[in-house]
Amino acid sequence: MSHIKWDDTFSVGVELIDSQHQLLFQIINRFYDAIERKENQTILSKLFHEVLDYTTMHFSIEETMMKQCNYPDIAQHQEIHKRLIARAGEVQQEINRGVKGAPQAAMLFLTDWLEKHIKGNDKQYTPFMTKLGAA
Ligand SMILES: [Fe+2]
Ligand SMILES: [Fe+2]
Repeated sequence: MSHIKWDDTFSVGVELIDSQHQLLFQIINRFYDAIERKENQTILSKLFHEVLDYTTMHFSIEETMMKQCNYPDIAQHQEIHKRLIARAGEVQQEINRGVKGAPQAAMLFLTDWLEKHIKGNDKQYTPFMTKLGAA
């Protein structure tokens, strides 16, 4: 396991969204650092909650922007967001209950999922958003 690092391969070409993704990576890395420091479950729960909170906020802004540019696959994208939030909610419960290995599993889940989602799903709205001058 390691930090999740933002680089240009993650850029979706829309400044606001890139900066939100970068901040999300930082929040995830704070959670990672706490795991490395072997912080207690209360702290890990709180830091994971910050990840969940920021992700929820980011998804909602992303969805508003997709609507504004009439992105045709918005329903599918929203569904993917919904599933992620549901899964992250379960992960939060596991961390809250102090399930052994849950924070590490959460970190792997987040990094793997984010890379696939940003590169595979988010990048698809780029041409629609840049056409509107949102970039
Ligand atoms: Fe995103
Ligand atoms: Fe997304």
